[in-house]
Amino acid sequence: MSEAIEIVEADITQLDVDAIVNAANNSLLGGGGVDGAIHRSAGPELVAECRTLGGCATGEAKITAGYRLKARHVIHTVGPIWSGGGAGEPALLESCYVGSLKLAKAHGLSSIAFPSISTGAYGYPLAPATRIAIAAALAHLEGNGCVGRIVFACFGRQAEATYRAVLTEMRAMLSEANPKLVE
Ligand code: AR6
Repeated sequence: MSEAIEIVEADITQLDVDAIVNAANNSLLGGGGVDGAIHRSAGPELVAECRTLGGCATGEAKITAGYRLKARHVIHTVGPIWSGGGAGEPALLESCYVGSLKLAKAHGLSSIAFPSISTGAYGYPLAPATRIAIAAALAHLEGNGCVGRIVFACFGRQAEATYRAVLTEMRAMLSEANPKLVE
């Protein structure tokens, strides 16, 4: 089950997976951070396809081809801008992960890599954002016909350490709640 979660310190643009997820903005026309890096690596064909999509609402996800990336597809999702946590940010961030995984499943993809959505320019604190990301991945892996391999691409050692700590903490909680679910 949770063995299908991989935590790596990596530049997401270099990963060889069926889809990488882009932490985009509502225009889907590119920006800074991971969005800029993905568009630079994919080439101008990516923004050309994005122009046909009509933008994307916060919490939703849309899929394109991967063009010059190793990844076959890019799933573009728009995380919430952190404004203290009382404006629906956790539900919107969860919706980014759940929606991206559903889209990948609907396209028959078997591997996906996520960056840490909203935790850069959009200011979402890393630890609570990581809990939402890992909880969504664990829930998805319990379903039938799920995307079997979920990679979290961490930008830097500190982010990687946070992801590993949260995964350990959540596995422990799961095994306490239901020892049969976790070996
Ligand atoms: N690979 C993996 N992770 C990365 C990479 C990379 N190449 N580059 C940055 N990160 P951000 P957001 C991490 O700001 O907070 C854009 O301008 C970074 O360390 O890219 O969702 C969009 O157009 C951070 O942890 O996305 C939007 O306007 C995480 O990716 C806005 O930023 C997300 O940081 C979206 O803000």
